[in-house]
Amino acid sequence: MVSTDSSTSDIEGCGTVSGGGPILCVVGARPNYMKMAPIIRALAAFGDAVPPVLVHTGQHYDAAMNDSFFTALGMPRPAVNLEVGSASHAVQTAEIMKRFEPVLDAHAPAAVLVVGDVNSTIACALVAAKKGVPVVHVEAGLRSYDRRMPEEINRVLTDQIADLLYTTERSAAANLHAEGVADERIVFVGNVMIDTLLANRSAAVPASTTLAGLPLAASVFATGREPRYGVVTLHRPSNVDDRDTLGRLIGALNTISRQLPLVLALHPRTRARIEEFGLAAAFEADRVAILPPQGYLEMLGLMAQATLVLTDSGGLQEETTALGVPCLTLRENTERPITIVEGTNTLCGTDAARIVHEATDILATGGKRGRSPELWDGRAAERIAAHLASWIAARGAVAAGPAPSIPAILKAA
Ligand code: UD1
Repeated sequence: MVSTDSSTSDIEGCGTVSGGGPILCVVGARPNYMKMAPIIRALAAFGDAVPPVLVHTGQHYDAAMNDSFFTALGMPRPAVNLEVGSASHAVQTAEIMKRFEPVLDAHAPAAVLVVGDVNSTIACALVAAKKGVPVVHVEAGLRSYDRRMPEEINRVLTDQIADLLYTTERSAAANLHAEGVADERIVFVGNVMIDTLLANRSAAVPASTTLAGLPLAASVFATGREPRYGVVTLHRPSNVDDRDTLGRLIGALNTISRQLPLVLALHPRTRARIEEFGLAAAFEADRVAILPPQGYLEMLGLMAQATLVLTDSGGLQEETTALGVPCLTLRENTERPITIVEGTNTLCGTDAARIVHEATDILATGGKRGRSPELWDGRAAERIAAHLASWIAARGAVAAGPAPSIPAILKAA
C-alpha cells in the first residue's frame, strides 16, 4: 500500500535528517514533477537547513505519466510512494490523506511543501494543516474564478490553509488579498516550472527525432524551410468527458490540420473517452498524428519548434510563453493571465469556428510575439530555498524564545 525507498534517499539528498525535521515535498501528478525538480535541488543545496524528503502520492502511476519524468528531470526516486492510483475525487483525496498522515507523523517535518493544484496538493496540505505542520504552497494565488474546475477548488482551499505562499506572477497576490490572505504570507518568487524549462532546453529531443517515421513527417519537415506543425494536448474533463464537446474539438482540429499538420499527445483520460465515444476514426489520420503521452524532453522539443500549440493545459500556457511560441487555449478562462497580457497565449474557448479562425490568423501573421514575464528567469527555486531556509530558522528562533506571533515570524524572514 505504501512503499518506502530508503536506499536512494540518503545518497540523493532526500533522506531522513538529523535535527530540525525535513521539508516533506509532495508530488502526485505529471505537472508536479517539473515544478518540484528544481525545488528539491535548491533545498538540497542548503544542506541541513531545509533538507527535502520527496513523497509521491501515486496519483499518476503509468510509466508515460510518471517514471520517465523522474529520469528526464534528474529527480531522486521518492523516499515514500503512497500508491493511491486513480479513483473518484473523494476517494482519491481521502485515500491520499489516510496514507499521508502516518508518513507525516514518522518524519516530524519542519514543513510540508506542495505545488500546483492537483488533488494530491490539497490532500497533503489539509493533513499537515490539521496537525499544525506549516504548509508551503508553490504556485499560489492563481485563479480561473471557475469553480467547476476541480483544480480551482484545490487552489482556493490550499491557499487558505497555507502558511507561506510563493507566487509565479504578481496578479496572484491581488487574488489572495481578496480572499483575506495576509500579505506577510505571500512571496513573489517567479516560476519554478520555467526553471526546469530553461535548464533543459538544450537537452530537448528534436521534433525530427520524435516525429520520425510518422506519415505526416514528410509534410512537416520539407527541405529548405522551418518545420511546420502544431502540437495539441487535451485532457480537461470539461473538454473530453462530453461527447459533443470532444467531437466538436476534433472537428476543429481536422479543419486546422488541412493547413498545418497536427501532433496530438494523448492523455490516458482522453484516449479512454475517444474509445468510449467511438471517435477514434474521426481524426484525419494523414494530417493528425496521435502519440502517447510524451516524456518531458520530447514534449519540450515538440513545443519549442512548433508553429502553434493548442491546449487546455495550464502548464503549456506558461511553457509556450517562455518559449515564445503562439498558444491557443481551448478554454473559456485561464488562471494564468500573464500568459495573455505579456506572453503568447490567446484564450479561444471551445467554439469550433473561433478556434479555426484564431489558428488561421496565427498562421497568417505568426501570432503574438510576447515577452518572458518578470522573474521567469530560471532562479525561482533558488529564491524559494533561500527564503524558506530563513523562514524556518526564524520560526525555530521564535519557538525557542517568547510566544510567537505569525507576522513577527514572517518579518524576521
Ligand atoms: C490531473 C490533475 C490535473 C492535471 C492533470 C495532468 C487533479 C484534480 N487533476 O488530472 O490538474 O492537469 O492531472 O495530467 O488532480 N490515468 C491513467 N494513468 C495514470 C493517471 C491517470 O490511466 O497514470 C487515467 C485514469 O483513468 C484516471 C484518469 O486518467 O481515472 C484521470 O486521472 P486523475 O489523476 O484523476 O486526473 P487527471 O485527469 O490526470
